Amino acid sequence: MNAINRLAAVISLASLFPLAAHAADSKGTVEVVHWWTSGGEHAAVKVLQQQVEKDGFTWKDGAVAGGGGATAMTVLKSRSVAGNPPGVAQIKGPDIQEWATTGLLDPDTLKSVAESEHWDKLLSKTVADTMKYEGDYVAVPVDIHRVNWLWINPEAFKKAGIAKAPATLEELYAAADKLKAAGIIPIAHGGQPWQDATVFEDVVLSVMGADGFKKAFVDLDEKTLTGPKMAEVFTQLKKIKGYMDPDGAGQDWNLEAGKVIQGKAGMQFMGDWAKSEWTQAGKKAGTDYECVPFPGTAGSFTYNIDSLAVFKVKDKGSVAAAQDLAKIAMGKDFQEIFNKAKGSIPVRNDMDLSQFDSCAQASAKDFAEADKAGKLEPSMAHNMATTLAVQGAIFDVVTNFMSDKNADATDTAKKLGSAISAAK
Ligand code: GAL
Repeated sequence: MNAINRLAAVISLASLFPLAAHAADSKGTVEVVHWWTSGGEHAAVKVLQQQVEKDGFTWKDGAVAGGGGATAMTVLKSRSVAGNPPGVAQIKGPDIQEWATTGLLDPDTLKSVAESEHWDKLLSKTVADTMKYEGDYVAVPVDIHRVNWLWINPEAFKKAGIAKAPATLEELYAAADKLKAAGIIPIAHGGQPWQDATVFEDVVLSVMGADGFKKAFVDLDEKTLTGPKMAEVFTQLKKIKGYMDPDGAGQDWNLEAGKVIQGKAGMQFMGDWAKSEWTQAGKKAGTDYECVPFPGTAGSFTYNIDSLAVFKVKDKGSVAAAQDLAKIAMGKDFQEIFNKAKGSIPVRNDMDLSQFDSCAQASAKDFAEADKAGKLEPSMAHNMATTLAVQGAIFDVVTNFMSDKNADATDTAKKLGSAISAAK
């Protein structure tokens, strides 16, 4: 059964309208399911909540903890099966299409807002297409994250005698050796499946380049998935694992980011939501920390677009509340404040980024260039490249490999191919 049928089968179309809106005293209620629960993420999403409330609507917070959103997606599915989906939920990439196929998303709510606010003109085609189902917007984009980043604590590098940020895997290992020798954890990393998968896709991009990345995660090309280059990826991944935080098993990404911020660790591989933690800690890009592309991936941009999908709701107040949220989310003010706090770049293409920090400016420049050169890569680890079923199969293979000291790289590449075939 393919992924769309699978989702549709669990969520029967009958009687799937959310229960009545909650607050009778406001103009309407919007319940938002999301997984922005770290300190920095919370500060960012609070901006949206405050603006919705300022407009006289009630915000019902449906935060579900768990980086990468796997737990939030499970909650969303079971609520939908029970006939009680929220008004709005954080759903991304091809999953938007899957959800729309079930008939639960509303193609009408966003129509008037998207038209009057000229979304088609303001968004890059890559972003707009991701938000649409059969030509209609069913989700509001809020930010563009870059995933293939390396975050560095320059103080730790100085202590370890490292002169410059690593630009290749060889330089990465040399820097990691020096950090280790100086008694600093080389790489902060939480061993959760989505974090393992984030590093895995970085290494795929580094070893196979943009074409290989696309073949592996978009085309799901059998030869690429099981071939010698994939075995090479796993070999490198094992080497990297040797430098990772020994106390990282099951750790949340933001706690690991905290170790780099405090100088206990020297580096972290993470998308630029990690910047939200640095910002929360009062640190400045370029001085207190450095952001560089994951070694060997300069010029490529693994993108992760956050978006809020709109569900069908019965009462007018809830529709109005969702429309208000959509209008705010795409507005210039919100785009500036939210993205500065979140670590991402705006989705609108008419923004002045001169007040954004150096990481965001580099990200925006690289996004535009990679877009032009066809080197914009949809992140597999962050739901942009493939279905949840295929992504889950990849997560399992990668995370088992990362936790098994004896796992063989060539065998694992073969396993990856068969796990994906079964999940397709
Ligand atoms: C990503 C999401 C980001 C950030 C991150 C950590 O999937 O797109 O906005 O929240 O997970 O939870």
